[in-house]
Amino acid sequence: MSRPEKPAAAVLADAARAVAAVLGGQSADAALAPFESSPRRAAVRAVALGTVRWYLRLQAAVDSLLARPRALGRDVHALLVTAAHQIEYSRNAPQQTVHAAVDAARMLRHGHASGLVNAVLRKFVAQRESLLARIDRDPARRSAHPRWLLEALQSAWPQHAAAMLEANNAHPPLTLRLNPLRRSAERYLEDLAAAGLAGRRFEEAGGAAGPTAIQVEPPVPVAALPGFAEGWVSVQDTAAQLAAPLLDAAPGMRVLDACAAPGSKTAHILERTPGLELWALDIDPVRLERIAETLARLGLSAHLAAADARHPQAFWDGRPFERILVDAPCSGTGVIRRHPDIKLLRRAEDIAPLAATQLELVRAAFRMLAPGGRLLYSTCSVLPQENEAVLARFLEGEPLARFRPLETAQLPPEAVTGPHGAQLLGGGAADTDGFYYACVEKTTSGI
Ligand SMILES: C[S@@+](CC[C@H](N)C(=O)[O-])C[C@H]1O[C@@H](n2cnc3c(N)ncnc32)[C@H](O)[C@@H]1O
Repeated sequence: MSRPEKPAAAVLADAARAVAAVLGGQSADAALAPFESSPRRAAVRAVALGTVRWYLRLQAAVDSLLARPRALGRDVHALLVTAAHQIEYSRNAPQQTVHAAVDAARMLRHGHASGLVNAVLRKFVAQRESLLARIDRDPARRSAHPRWLLEALQSAWPQHAAAMLEANNAHPPLTLRLNPLRRSAERYLEDLAAAGLAGRRFEEAGGAAGPTAIQVEPPVPVAALPGFAEGWVSVQDTAAQLAAPLLDAAPGMRVLDACAAPGSKTAHILERTPGLELWALDIDPVRLERIAETLARLGLSAHLAAADARHPQAFWDGRPFERILVDAPCSGTGVIRRHPDIKLLRRAEDIAPLAATQLELVRAAFRMLAPGGRLLYSTCSVLPQENEAVLARFLEGEPLARFRPLETAQLPPEAVTGPHGAQLLGGGAADTDGFYYACVEKTTSGI
């Protein structure tokens, strides 16, 4: 006779595997990929991402109940923290979670640890209020952020840091970008209503993204969105939807999107301004394929090239671009609510090399800019080292570059303007990701 299935235990076991993989250095996307075709996919994803989001708080609590936390295998440790997450943050009865975790230990082939799992989680259930109260005295633990990041946010944004930590732990909204070539906003809101979904537009709060940004509440998988396959809409945060309007390309221009994959901003630039000669570049050939898929779904086209934008001689024909977007690789500290694994994977020592690459990218891209042309720099980072500091160093060393202020009317009201660019800190009335934008022009004098 086959054993009765234990769905709660199976979800816990799979989620613990994914959490253990993230702790081993994999991104959450990679860690969850093995469960893509599982019938438990949605539940595993929710439990694993929730655990990763709160890992640094819960791990401290679980470890305080273990005599030798480091002696525990990674899977069993991840299972304990995953179960603690369910006990603390789900509506499931705690005792059921304890039983499911004992079964999950067996499913993970750690049956020998089931007694320990049972004992530790029972203690957690009994003592969690006092345990967590003690742990929450430390703001890094309370907010489940690594200390270096908490300190970096407090030092860069003393008045905003507390709200930023909170926004990082919130569930992100599902924001769509309407493709005006395929559907009007009015029609699409009706489409959503007909599908039983509620959508709202961001005309005022979203700045320049207002006309195209629609939030769907509650979030649903893209397959449930009307017209997704037909290219009526794409998923893109309101903050990221500012890039195309700020770049302000006009028909007939030669445009370079230097770090383009998976192609969300490439597509938006083309949707907004048909008739461009757009080059979309990415260093990663696999990610470049995703641009091709995105453009095909939306009925758009661009010249695609897999190349390192820091070395124009390898791919550039020498004809200058009138607009260049450098949406640089960055720490992702503005998108933690969407990618909570960033809190576990990113290190303080990553920031300086990222800033060095960002500066190289801007310098190389600027060489390809036409006189009078505009380069828009953006990151989904909230760390000034990757944003204002990169721009400051670039402008210092480039006599032909002139900083061009962003038009505040284009930005959501909560954007913080710095000496060179605008920083969205995340959350706020427009409920955006954290993002940075700055624009420079190439002067014609001296050429
Ligand atoms: C922030 S993502 C770009 C997101 C994209 N603009 C969008 O909106 O969908 C940064 C991209 O830069 C690419 N990248 C990193 N270093 C690069 C380089 N030296 N040259 C070109 N692309 C690079 C990465 O592979 C990654 O796809």
